[in-house]
Amino acid sequence: MKFYQTITLKNGKEAILRNGDAADGEAVLEVFIKTHEETDYLLTYPEENTSTPEEEAEFLSEKTESENGIEIIAIVDEKVVGTAGIGAHGTKYKEKHRADFGISVLKEYWGLGLGTALTRACIECAREAGYAQLELSVVADNEAAVSLYRKEGFVEYGRNPKGFNSRISGYQEVIDMLLDLE
Ligand SMILES: CC(C)(COP(=O)(O)OP(=O)(O)OC[C@H]1O[C@@H](n2cnc3c(N)ncnc32)[C@H](O)[C@@H]1OP(=O)(O)O)[C@@H](O)C(=O)NCCC(=O)NCCS
Repeated sequence: MKFYQTITLKNGKEAILRNGDAADGEAVLEVFIKTHEETDYLLTYPEENTSTPEEEAEFLSEKTESENGIEIIAIVDEKVVGTAGIGAHGTKYKEKHRADFGISVLKEYWGLGLGTALTRACIECAREAGYAQLELSVVADNEAAVSLYRKEGFVEYGRNPKGFNSRISGYQEVIDMLLDLE
């Protein structure tokens, strides 16, 4: 899928939100690794991500060509500073109305409105792709993310008390949330 939007951040700077493509592979991989180092709320540890820049480029290219998936990148001062994406939850008829959502922004750029804009962009794309429901999982202690999702209309439908096992803090409760798009 394709997407393009410019927004003004809370600090007055301009940000471009657009679908990532093959040429963004290396920059997106760097942001992926850095965001996963900066927080304990994401699924993987940096060394568990074994993608190469070439594989990331291929992933982004496939998303651009896809009719029901997208990886949107946020660019500030010509630098990729955050990503958010949607993808099909499953390919079988009984599940193909469901999409999964994920997002991360570099810590230096938190609180400027990028998370909100990226989430709204993904919701727009999920509707355009015809999904009935957008779904996510979030660590219960991740206050910024939980309040962002609630603000954008996601509702909680379950909790897994030992959803994640963090090397730092032990078990983390994970909340499952969904947004009804119909
Ligand atoms: C969650 C995340 C994407 C938010 O991005 P952001 O660019 O800071 O988001 P915004 O500036 O648009 O703020 C979004 C909302 O989050 C909430 N929020 C932001 N910081 C907060 C904080 N410190 N405490 C509580 N709520 C907070 C507010 O509701 C805010 O909306 P408002 O400004 O209209 O009040 C970002 O913190 C992040 O990338 N975290 C690390 C990765 C991550 O946790 N991803 C989600 C995994 S499920």
